Amino acid sequence: MNKAAVMAAAVLLALAAGAQAEVWALRAAGMIDVEKGEWRADPLLLIDGERIKSVQFGAKAQPPAGARLVDLGELTLLPGLMDMHVHITGDARLHGFRRLEVSLPRWAIKGVANAKTTLEAGFTTVRVLGAPGYADVALREAIDAGEVPGPRLFVAGPSIGMTGGHCDSNLLPAEWQQRSAGVADGPWAVREKVRENIKYGADVIKFCATGGVLSKGTEVGAQQYTAEEMAALVDEAHQLGAIVAAHAHGSNGIKAAIRAGVDSVEHASFLDDEAIELALEHGTWLSMDIYTTEYILGEGQKAGILEESLAKERKVGTIQRDSFRKAVEAGVKMVFGTDAAVYPHGDNGKQFARMVQFGMTPAQAIQAATVNAASLLKQPDLGTIKEGAYADLIAVAGNPLEQIKLLESVPVVIKGGSLVKDQR
Ligand code: ARG
Repeated sequence: MNKAAVMAAAVLLALAAGAQAEVWALRAAGMIDVEKGEWRADPLLLIDGERIKSVQFGAKAQPPAGARLVDLGELTLLPGLMDMHVHITGDARLHGFRRLEVSLPRWAIKGVANAKTTLEAGFTTVRVLGAPGYADVALREAIDAGEVPGPRLFVAGPSIGMTGGHCDSNLLPAEWQQRSAGVADGPWAVREKVRENIKYGADVIKFCATGGVLSKGTEVGAQQYTAEEMAALVDEAHQLGAIVAAHAHGSNGIKAAIRAGVDSVEHASFLDDEAIELALEHGTWLSMDIYTTEYILGEGQKAGILEESLAKERKVGTIQRDSFRKAVEAGVKMVFGTDAAVYPHGDNGKQFARMVQFGMTPAQAIQAATVNAASLLKQPDLGTIKEGAYADLIAVAGNPLEQIKLLESVPVVIKGGSLVKDQR
């Protein structure tokens, strides 16, 4: 055979193998039923291709004759974890002015490495809320094509924001004309930016509704964008089928974003009673990154975080954790979002213990990172272990409802029916 014929034959073989992917069985000592928030003994899952074919319980349940059985022994199964706020191309060692030294292709390559690290930490789905140059779109495509390992990505492309706002880049003086790709001012300019992001592959729209901690010269408490701009942005995104995430620390910006109809508020640091009421009324998800503060205050200076940002963090971190407790007590809908890249990728799971420390039950923290995240993304086949769902699974060495820190080191990861990590 000539070279072309050999290649054609190889492609046919690969197609045939894919078409009749084997059905295999997976057994473990326990499984977390995330909807009920309960541990159940002796699950037996049948996995067909990338999906779960059946879920049975009981020591007597047997795999079909001839089916390959993977027995995870004493481990407990859970749905793959989902982080609703990461920056997959970012690097926790590069903050402030250090970021200006990094080229776009270099960020993209960091994204490839970070995707693998994130998946191996047990996060089989992440939402990327901002990446330069649509590197996140390219990475999603490469992962979906099986070229590089990584979680399922739902991506925003460049974050949208006002001139000089948290989503702009404000490090250099005027003569450098530095400006982030997502900057737009005025309702129509903002609509155009939404259209552009979707044109180039974004699934989600991320915008900045207040100042931030890590941006130079912005006030965390100050609203950014008028109510009119926010309403235009959300209307355009929803009309085109994209969900919207708003970065917001200060209470005025949080409330304006909720009134504009955003799907999730990120950070949500300064929550007053009215903001909590509004979130309940509108069914808005809060995605509160309450772990990052420890890294920022511990390692931030070495990583290049500006002194003014450290000063902002000293105020925001504590207040955000108090707000988290209030929101949990009030029953506001919560997803798990960490802002990975501010702190090292792969440490995402460290936030679970903080969520429990600041008011959630372990079951609620796990729901935030599974069923709730899937609901925010409108993906009912993710974040759950049931017939027909994607076989995105992890296994840990015990019951995480009793020991939440088990989610900080995940020995077994399965994505789309393939075992991607087995360190039992
Ligand atoms: N990207 C966010 C910002 O710069 C990080 C905030 C981190 N601090 C916190 N307490 N969650 O505003």
